[in-house]
Amino acid sequence: MVFSATTATCGIVLHPASHTRSPAMHNAAFEAMGIDAAYTAFDVAPDALGEAIAGARALGIRQLAVSIPHKQAVIPHLDSIDPTAERIGAVNTVTLQDGRLVGTNTDWIGAMKALEAERALAGARAVVLGAGGTARAVVFGLVQRGASVRVLNRTAAKAERLASELDASGAGDLASLGDAEFDILINTTSVGLSSDESPIAPLQHGGDRVVMDVVYQPEQTRLLRESRQAGARTVGGKWMLIHQAAEQIRIWTGRAAPVDVLADAFDRAGGDDSLSG
Ligand code: ATR
Repeated sequence: MVFSATTATCGIVLHPASHTRSPAMHNAAFEAMGIDAAYTAFDVAPDALGEAIAGARALGIRQLAVSIPHKQAVIPHLDSIDPTAERIGAVNTVTLQDGRLVGTNTDWIGAMKALEAERALAGARAVVLGAGGTARAVVFGLVQRGASVRVLNRTAAKAERLASELDASGAGDLASLGDAEFDILINTTSVGLSSDESPIAPLQHGGDRVVMDVVYQPEQTRLLRESRQAGARTVGGKWMLIHQAAEQIRIWTGRAAPVDVLADAFDRAGGDDSLSG
């Protein structure tokens, strides 16, 4: 690509930044869409976040993705956040609109699009494992789509708090999965990211179930492997990342992003990555 004085700048702020695939994905999409923009990664330590956001405003950076560990800390530095990001309690996208930095969240829609490729969500019985920031985005999305949601977490009290704040129908610890009837299961914990472990015992019946893992490196986590062996359909975290990126591009440009181009760039970027973005 040839850049010029009018090339728009976008990027991702995270820490550490060495392995993110987001620049490869967004730049491939911009090229395919004929958009004159460049997307890079900014490694911003937590104590420099305020200065970084002020700098982005001054430089006119059009859009910033916000990833680990900044998704909550960024909020006080913005001019406004939309009601969805407010309810989820986290911002992963900052867009310059008429000189104002507006925060929103596309993680939830990325997760819902990835699931909706497999089945309808209205009326589905879902179980969400975990009660951190990612769980909040997923629970918000499922409730918004009309699914009933149980939140299960190692620390049950956190699951109960999340469930009551976001109108999920129940909560418990991870062991209570054994009693739950469900159609969809989503792992939002980091279990499986750095070791070949699953947050739950292998499912006995895959049946018509859909199992999704937000972890995308490795692409086939132990949870997904064991669930597929039990007959379930599985969705890797790659698709949540791709669809949340497509939504970021739609917010900024007003145009639909090519999901196949994003997926291809994700695959080619490969290598040692993490949950970070
Ligand atoms: P994120 O913002 O990515 O969701 P987080 O807020 O740090 O990250 O949340 C991590 C989640 O993974 C939590 O639900 C955590 O469970 P606890 O609330 O009990 O800490 C879960 N988690 C992390 N390591 C885990 C492990 N070894 N076994 C089970 N759950 C784990």
